[in-house]
Amino acid sequence: MKLMVNDNAVDIPEQWQKESLLIVLREYLGLTGAKIGCGIGQCGACTIIIDGQARRSCIADVSDVTDMKITTIEGLAARNGGLHPVQQAWIDEAVPQCGYCQAGQIMSAVALLDAHPRPDEDAIKEAMEDVLCRCGTYRRIRTAIERAAEGPV
Ligand code: FES
Ligand code: FES
Repeated sequence: MKLMVNDNAVDIPEQWQKESLLIVLREYLGLTGAKIGCGIGQCGACTIIIDGQARRSCIADVSDVTDMKITTIEGLAARNGGLHPVQQAWIDEAVPQCGYCQAGQIMSAVALLDAHPRPDEDAIKEAMEDVLCRCGTYRRIRTAIERAAEGPV
């Protein structure tokens, strides 16, 4: 079985094929940007992008995503190391506090802006409301998304 992760085709050995995508990403591939939170699809800490959609990798089976394009936060920056506009906006707005939820927040924001480059307040709210932040960084997240949306996304 192969997965296409961050534009690389990777072989997944049989013993990992029954794990969740989150576990395979973190523990087999060493991509630890997506975090383990609730493990049941409710917090959003594990959010990645699969075929353009923000998806919760803790409840995605590896076998269901073999033909899909998987992007984790490690694959967001350009190949020359330049940050994605959303990552830059996150820095400019000093969004993170503890940081635990932030990869999921950023991946959700990227999926939103890919689909809707100029989202209004309601669209931002709808896309982001289920990605939980215990530190309450929600206002800065909204501002950073608006900032990223003003630039070339
Ligand atoms: Fe996946 Fe919470 S860890 S949604
Ligand atoms: Fe701490 Fe979101 S920054 S949980």
